[in-house]
Amino acid sequence: MTTSVMSSLTLPNGQTLKNRFAKAAMEESLGNAELLPDDQLVQLYRTWGQGGTGLLLTGNVMVDHMAMTGPGGVVLEADTPLEPFRRWAAAAHEGGAKIWMQINHPGRQVFAALGGKALSASDIAVDLGKHSKMFARPRAMSEGEIEDVIARFVATARQAEKAGFDGVQIHAAHGYLLSQFLSPLTNQRKDQWGGSVSNRARLLLEIVRQVRAAVAADFAVAVKINSADFQRGGFDLDDAHKVVQMLNPLGVDVIEVSGGNYEAPAMQGRTADGRTLAREAYFLEFAEQIARVSEVPVMSTGGVTRLATAQAVVDAGVALVGMGTALAICPDLVNRWQQQPQYRPDIQQINWKDKAIASVAAMALVRRHIRRWAQGASQPTWLSPLVSLLLDQMKMKGKVRRYRAHVAEKAQ
Ligand SMILES: Cc1cc2nc3c(=O)[nH]c(=O)nc-3n(C[C@H](O)[C@H](O)[C@H](O)COP(=O)(O)O)c2cc1C
Repeated sequence: MTTSVMSSLTLPNGQTLKNRFAKAAMEESLGNAELLPDDQLVQLYRTWGQGGTGLLLTGNVMVDHMAMTGPGGVVLEADTPLEPFRRWAAAAHEGGAKIWMQINHPGRQVFAALGGKALSASDIAVDLGKHSKMFARPRAMSEGEIEDVIARFVATARQAEKAGFDGVQIHAAHGYLLSQFLSPLTNQRKDQWGGSVSNRARLLLEIVRQVRAAVAADFAVAVKINSADFQRGGFDLDDAHKVVQMLNPLGVDVIEVSGGNYEAPAMQGRTADGRTLAREAYFLEFAEQIARVSEVPVMSTGGVTRLATAQAVVDAGVALVGMGTALAICPDLVNRWQQQPQYRPDIQQINWKDKAIASVAAMALVRRHIRRWAQGASQPTWLSPLVSLLLDQMKMKGKVRRYRAHVAEKAQ
């Protein structure tokens, strides 16, 4: 018997999702001057919550205000006031969705202009050719700094639970800190945190263990990992299988499969090592293979824009279908599909010659759609990629200045 993508799913720790759709994490860049969620994020998640998607993953929330993936980020630390986060979670619940907070540390993927800490497994900087100087040069972490990061992930997860979130997703994909530890290209340590795959996975596994022990049994703990970095000599599918086997006994609820990093943005359907990803559900093949070794439900994200494709993901033995761009353009897509199974959101391809700039424009376009919903828009619309890119650059510059001022004030 086939499982419908519209059917509910009960997770290993008892939480039930009303259907198999998940809004994938997308950094909204809507944090306020104090790095907190405010009215716009609340409105955005109210809209998504009412749109029919069973599970909403927030954009990544930082575990350290000195280490940000980008300007406009949200931070949740042990002493952060919880009221704004309570409002955020409650807005998602209004329409019957569950909301999990994605928690993250950027490691070396920190913009030089933002400043703050640039820490990594080893002192290897992001290599983006002529764009490399945009990134800070990282320092290899000391044992004490590793312990601090573990404690921060645990503190953020506990705070998320207190604020009414239904779970957390630990971000170990896309070349951020935990993914830097997993990859042999960025982790060249000779101690217990580097070398074999079990050593490279130690930081992730320790965080998962300690988070699981610190939260209630039915609070979901999920992990996002790369199927591969798509770089020669990087984290590969064989490593991913081993990491999943190590995660199996740790009480994880969902493993989301993605891929790539800033150097090789496979999460946008492009690879650096020449492999091409099929346009639709481009991590499905990897997710299917991972689902075979995983005792934990698997989620596949990337390139899903049609109901038939979403159903094909579930038919392939993958428990949850993640969607980012499609839900940024059309937040009530799942409700629309109940009435109009053929409906397809209008997603633009940006085929510019400079692939790095095209990637930045694609992100800027999605962020602009997200901003519209956050400001109370009621219908999808077409937006120009070029105008979105220019607007985004302007907004980001202002947010960089605001962040630097905030950090300077906090340090006094
Ligand atoms: C604007 C934007 C921000 C994103 N931010 C995050 C993030 O914070 N965390 C994360 O894991 N992935 C992030 N992603 C990647 C998405 O979760 C997803 O993997 C990717 O967009 C591919 O899925 P899609 O084809 O359905 O959009 C982001 C993507 C976009 C477009």
